[in-house]
Amino acid sequence: MPKNLNVFDGPDAVKKFLNPGENSYLPLVELPATLNPFADDNVRIYAKLMNMMPLGNVKAAPAFNMIEEKYLNGQLASVEKIVENSSGNTVSSIALVARQFGINNVQSYVPAEISWHKLLMLLFYGVEPIVNVEPQNPDESDPNSGVSKAKKDAMQDGVLNPGQYDNDANPKAHEKWTAKQIWDQTDGKIDVFCAGLGTTGTAIGNSRYLKGKNPSVRVVGAMRAPDNYVPGVRTEKLLKLVGFDWQKHVDQIEPVETAQSYRLSIEMSRGGIIVGPSAGLALAGLLQYLEGLKAKDGLDKLRNKKSGDIVCVFPCPDGPLPYMDEYFKYVDRSHFPSIQNEELLLNKP
Ligand SMILES: Cc1ncc(COP(=O)(O)O)c(C=O)c1O
Repeated sequence: MPKNLNVFDGPDAVKKFLNPGENSYLPLVELPATLNPFADDNVRIYAKLMNMMPLGNVKAAPAFNMIEEKYLNGQLASVEKIVENSSGNTVSSIALVARQFGINNVQSYVPAEISWHKLLMLLFYGVEPIVNVEPQNPDESDPNSGVSKAKKDAMQDGVLNPGQYDNDANPKAHEKWTAKQIWDQTDGKIDVFCAGLGTTGTAIGNSRYLKGKNPSVRVVGAMRAPDNYVPGVRTEKLLKLVGFDWQKHVDQIEPVETAQSYRLSIEMSRGGIIVGPSAGLALAGLLQYLEGLKAKDGLDKLRNKKSGDIVCVFPCPDGPLPYMDEYFKYVDRSHFPSIQNEELLLNKP
């Protein structure tokens, strides 16, 4: 069956379906001028829809790569249980991929402040959560962090901790799949890549590949501003828990606020690009970067001499549905329509 008909069959059909390398390229969609304040500067901004992966989020790629790499190295044969520190996307993806490799028992350390909705999502995918009170001042080596506890558990026989915060198979997944797709889809014309920083795997993998192809590609890392919340993304303080040398791969960091991330996610979704809060954060970081550059040195340094355009790409890690209640917490009610006859509702939040 030709691959481009998008059919997966045979005894390994689901494993192939979950393998990003066996799938069609994920859509790269240009934002319309209504969502691009730099359209008149010939800046072209593209959303890379990682939420169109089979598991509905960006983590399908590192999850598949981390598990497959262990399998190919012969390290999966004796594994009975997988333990990861993750409050949602990574461990759900790991659980679904691991089942295809014969491992059914997956546990996850989750922070005590995890939303009820996310906890239900883990249970839905068959992941066993272990609630953990995270230390106030995070430090990579703190034995009370979920990251350290998962590592410690994996010292027992038969237990594997994929370790998304320092396992190179995480950035490598983006290098071989996400970045290659972006390079091909922009015909090598990408000038700026901006990603939210969580484990930093997306930023590192894309940076390695894109800068390897063209060292003048600028890589921007968007992070949460201090005391601001956006799921999947870290503050500068929380990034200290990440074992990767992400600073080496990022040219500039941009702190972004919660409300701005959620608002841009709503605007894109209403405009037909249905993406979650961390996609809003990545777009906000990109716009902030362009604004700063325009005010300081002008944008021409980034401009492609031939086309006169500046091509920017930001990944959209997941969709808005898992966070529906949060939009109404972080975005003012005036951004939403009113409900007529609200007093007749039988169920109210
Ligand atoms: C929703 C969401 N956004 C952004 C990220 C950040 O991606 P990365 O971990 O590759 O830095 C993640 C990672 O878990 C995520 O789940």
